[in-house]
Amino acid sequence: MAETGINRSNVVTPTRKRSGSDENWDRDDLVVAKKQMKPLTLRPDQIQDPASALANARHEFGEHGGVNMSIEASATFTVMEPETMRRMFSGELGPDRDFFIYSRHFNPTVLNLSRQMAALEGTEAAYCTASGMSAISSVLLQLCSSGGHVVASRTLYGGTYALLSHFMPRACNITTSFVDIRDHLAVKEAIVEGRTKVLYFESISNPALKVANVPELCRIAHDKGVTVVVDNTFAPMVMSPGRLGADVVVHSISKFISGGADIIAGAVCGPASLVNSMMDLQQGALMLLGPTMNPKVAFELSERLPHLGLRIKEHCHRALTYATRMKKLGFKVIYPGLDDHPDHSTLKSLANKDYGFGGILCVDMETEERANRFMNLLQNYTQFGFMAVSLGYYETLMSISGSSTSSEMNAQEKALAGISPGLVRMSIGYSGTLEQKWSQLEKALSRMQDTNLFQKH
Ligand SMILES: Cc1ncc(COP(=O)(O)O)c(C=O)c1O
Repeated sequence: MAETGINRSNVVTPTRKRSGSDENWDRDDLVVAKKQMKPLTLRPDQIQDPASALANARHEFGEHGGVNMSIEASATFTVMEPETMRRMFSGELGPDRDFFIYSRHFNPTVLNLSRQMAALEGTEAAYCTASGMSAISSVLLQLCSSGGHVVASRTLYGGTYALLSHFMPRACNITTSFVDIRDHLAVKEAIVEGRTKVLYFESISNPALKVANVPELCRIAHDKGVTVVVDNTFAPMVMSPGRLGADVVVHSISKFISGGADIIAGAVCGPASLVNSMMDLQQGALMLLGPTMNPKVAFELSERLPHLGLRIKEHCHRALTYATRMKKLGFKVIYPGLDDHPDHSTLKSLANKDYGFGGILCVDMETEERANRFMNLLQNYTQFGFMAVSLGYYETLMSISGSSTSSEMNAQEKALAGISPGLVRMSIGYSGTLEQKWSQLEKALSRMQDTNLFQKH
C-alpha cells in the first residue's frame, strides 16, 4: 500500500502479536506503517478548512483490505508476555504504539473516529464518548476540582445549564457565574483569578443563535490563565473554535455530525495532554466515570463524517433561503445569516468559507399558543417537518425551546437568554427539494396569517 501513502497496519496486527514476543514484534513493520500514514502537506488555507483537514486524516483500511476500517469489537486485548501488561498499566506502552488494554480505556475503532474528530476541529487529539453530555461533564470535571469556578454563557443548552447551575455545585462544589457572552467586560469581570478554571460557551448558542466572538473571548480568558471550552454542536464545519484559539471543543455528535437522529454520541477535542489525562488510570474522568463509546457506533459515525461538509452546506443553504423568505413575509425570524442579526458580521468574519451560517433558525411566534398552532400546521397539515427535539437530521425538526430543551431554566433566566415563550426552533432538513418544502412552509405561514393568529411585524 506504499503507493497510496495510507496505513494498513490493521492487516498485520493480530498475527504479528500472536506469533512474536510483545517486546520485539515486527517493529520494522510498524515503523514502515507509520511512515506510510504520514499526512500529505497541506497549504495553510487547507489546514484551516475542516473538510480538507478531514480528507487528509489517516484512512484506515479493513483487516482484509476493505475500503472501510474494521471494527475492533473486543472489550479486552491479549499480550504475548506477562511483563507487557505491567508496562501497559504503567503507561510505558500505549495506543500510539498499538498497545490496548481494555475498551473503557482506548479502543482502536473509537480512536480512529477520534482522529477524524481531531482533524475536523483542528485539535491535536480527541476522544469520543457515549453522549454529548458525558463529553461536557467529563471535561469540566477533569479541568475543575472541588471549589473550582466556571464562567459560562447564560445561553446554553438546557442540560448543560442544569449541569452547571444545579448538579456540579451539589455534587462537587464547582460553581458557575453565568454572563452574557457578548458582553466582554462582564466576562472579564466574572473571572476570579486563581479560582476560575474554565470559560465555557457555545459557538452558536442553543436556541437563541447568539454567536460567540471566539478569538476575543480566548484572549480575555488566556490573559487570566483560564481554559476555554467551546460547545460546537450547532456549527460543525461552519465554525472551528479550535482554529480560532479555543483550548477544547466539545460536541454532541448526536446532532449534525451523526445526521441520522439514530445515535447518541459525543466528543472532546483538544490537546493530547488533556485527552491522555482523561484516560489516566488514577485521575481520568473518561476512564473512571466510563462514558464509553461502543466501537460499532464509532464505525457507523466514521462513515458519516466524510459527507458532513456536503450535508452542512445544504442545511445552511435552505436555512438561509427560508429565513430570508419568511422575513420578507413579515415574520420575526432569528438567523445569524440575516443582515439584521446582531451577530451577523461576527459570524461572517469567523466562519469557515463556503459552508454558510448554520442549519438552525428560530421564528418567534410570541406566545406558546401561536407557536403550538404553527408547529401543528407544519407537521399535521403541510408535512413540512416533525415536532421533535434535537437537530441536524435530514428532516426538519421543530420544538418550542422554552417548554422543552430549555425548560430547565426559570422564566427570568429564559428572558435573559433571549428565549421567548413563542420561540420555535427549527433545524432545517434537506429531504425533498427546496421549493417543494418551501411550498409546505409557506402554506402553513399563510394559514397563520389568514387566521389572524400572527400579527405582522
Ligand atoms: C448544544 C448542545 N450541547 C450538548 C447537548 C447534549 O448532547 P447529547 O444529547 O448528545 O448528550 C445538546 C443536546 O441537545 C446540545 O444541543
